[in-house]
Amino acid sequence: MDKVNEPAVIKTGEYQRLYQQMKAVLEGESFVISRLATFACMIHRELPDIYWAGFYLEHEGILKIGPYQGSLGCLTIEPHRGVCGRAFRTRQPQLVENVHDDPEHIACDAASNAEVVIPLFGREGAVYGVLDIDSLTIGRFDTTDVEHLQRMVRDLLEPYLP
Ligand code: SME
Repeated sequence: MDKVNEPAVIKTGEYQRLYQQMKAVLEGESFVISRLATFACMIHRELPDIYWAGFYLEHEGILKIGPYQGSLGCLTIEPHRGVCGRAFRTRQPQLVENVHDDPEHIACDAASNAEVVIPLFGREGAVYGVLDIDSLTIGRFDTTDVEHLQRMVRDLLEPYLP
């Protein structure tokens, strides 16, 4: 197969374009909620096959819904529940090929089939929240998505987090 048509190369190109767009759009914006909202909107609009994209933010030890795009999200996720709770607890990204095979998954919307969750870290190393992205396509996300999303979250959000 021609290298430029390999899935990882195509995905990397999509993320590189998105990253440049986000840097341009968010230039000079330091208010965290505005950055999170713009980030969620651009992921939802610009990446292919995304059903839901948004943030859950830590508040008094639980995850509360933050800026998002897509169908109605659960308002609250306890740390011992959901793929988001697992990312929060373990501080590790979560890659779920098929959410119906994951006993911890919470179906806020039954249409979702695959999910990636990236933890966000605050200044003291505490988990500030998580980025949650869902797709209707089983196996939509892989380690290429995790690598790029971790980098984007770090560069675009962490310097502005409290
Ligand atoms: N799927 C998540 C719940 C949030 S919604 O998908 C928006 C989970 O299991 O953590």
